[in-house]
Amino acid sequence: MPTERPPAARAPRRIYITTPIYYVNAEPHLGSAYTMIICDTVARFHRQRGDDTIFVTGTDEHGDKIAQAAAAAGEHPQQYTDRVSAVFRSTWDACGFTYDRFIRTTDAEHVRTVREILARVHAAGDIYFGRYGGLYCTGCERFYTEKELVDGKCPDHRTAPEWIEEENYFFRMSAYQHRLLAELDARPDLIRPERYRNEVLALLREPLEDLCISRPKSRLTWGIELPFDERFVTYVWFDALINYVTALEELGPERFAALWPTANHFIAKDILKPHAVFWPTMLMAAGLPLYQHLNVHGYWTVDGEKMSKSLGNVVRPLDMRARYGMDAFRYVLLRESVFGLDADFREAALVTRINADLANNLGNLVSRTLSMQQRYFQGVVQPRTEVRPEDEALERAWADAEGEVETQVRALALSRALEAIWRALDHANKYIVETAPFTLAKDPAARPRVGTILHNLLEALRTSAQLASPFLPDTAARLATLLALPPAGLAAPWPAWGRAFVPGHTVASPVALFPRIEPA
Ligand code: MSP
Repeated sequence: MPTERPPAARAPRRIYITTPIYYVNAEPHLGSAYTMIICDTVARFHRQRGDDTIFVTGTDEHGDKIAQAAAAAGEHPQQYTDRVSAVFRSTWDACGFTYDRFIRTTDAEHVRTVREILARVHAAGDIYFGRYGGLYCTGCERFYTEKELVDGKCPDHRTAPEWIEEENYFFRMSAYQHRLLAELDARPDLIRPERYRNEVLALLREPLEDLCISRPKSRLTWGIELPFDERFVTYVWFDALINYVTALEELGPERFAALWPTANHFIAKDILKPHAVFWPTMLMAAGLPLYQHLNVHGYWTVDGEKMSKSLGNVVRPLDMRARYGMDAFRYVLLRESVFGLDADFREAALVTRINADLANNLGNLVSRTLSMQQRYFQGVVQPRTEVRPEDEALERAWADAEGEVETQVRALALSRALEAIWRALDHANKYIVETAPFTLAKDPAARPRVGTILHNLLEALRTSAQLASPFLPDTAARLATLLALPPAGLAAPWPAWGRAFVPGHTVASPVALFPRIEPA
């Protein structure tokens, strides 16, 4: 018989999860939604296990690019950023993302924190005044070295950078190169997956240059004024990265101290250098510990093409939600991508996945189990009268899935975690075929066995709801309702197999969780 698990005796775990703060010169799309979905899933996973979890997102609102977008829209930058930032916020809310704080770089607290850090680093002698000429890409808001250009053009924007020469303030980033290398050496999983750590190591084989961290107001006023020279505003990356500090600081010094070292930044590979080089060296200069992990995911294309307004192939999360439901969209993005690698989005493939995995595999298991429970026992869960080898095998399949989910989510292999749950669902569907309760039900003497089989299947559904909940939160909640379990029942610790349903527990009649979609 299953035994009660010992209470999990462990130190309280914590995690501070961040997304990049998105530029407000574009609206939410598949790419930003993907980072949100990953972070939301990881945050839900940790909360479900009782970990102290803080999840932060927001918008990046200063700099040339935003000033230009506001001008193009005929709006004052503040009015423009208020408007687009609100679009991000309402989109993420409609998507059901459970962020704890939405930060804007125009927030007064953020401005204060940036100025404080600048003043500190300046006082420590790590910021100096100098003259600099370089190739500057307005799109990226940064200077490029000749080597980084492709055919003389910015590799991202495919435009020729401008030569700009001016007096500015510089952060003595070069002074931290050795310390950064030592950290990367001491903490091989600081940047993960490893391919991105290797990219950073390759970058650091060249001498690191100092970082220009100001823009003269004669050229740009839309930024945070330097605390030690009012003729300049702060370079947008020096401003934006600090959001990670600001967002946590408001929780007070104690929570800050506890959570800061658990920071897990999630980004795509496009912004690796600022997060892997600028940010850790800035933290060293500011006297703050480094993050726990920089988690770098790949880039999505759409039908094999880069997503862009001009190509008209931008995938909008709210359209996907309206067409397929948010959980189905989450499922497909997480299932079809390997964390760290690029992926390609195709709507036809999404429909195939939804039909195969959600409508057939999961949906059928739910409807077959609940309809038999209804037909044979009016929904009342029966006692388990025996444990046969096939019953044990089913229980084991779910225990394996539970172990896999635990390991794979922590390794950010979210698609593997989903595969593990779906393997167990397959097993449960086969268990129905093999044990054939619908045939046994014709024999009154076999009633206890039928009740036992269905009880085991309900346990499979209960476990699937618990394991899938961080990935497919609405579906898991609907499933919990069908099983007449309180929504809180999805939080760990979970009852042992066979203990979730007490005698007399009554489950609901089936509904189609995921109707089949007819391909367009
Ligand atoms: N504002 C900076 C980030 C500052 S963080 C201190 C920025 N903003 S952004 O709006 O351009 O967002 C970039 C991020 O959006 C990527 O790192 C990634 O999280 C997400 N993505 C944008 N397009 C994407 C894809 N096509 N595919 C995957 N993720 C993408 O950079």
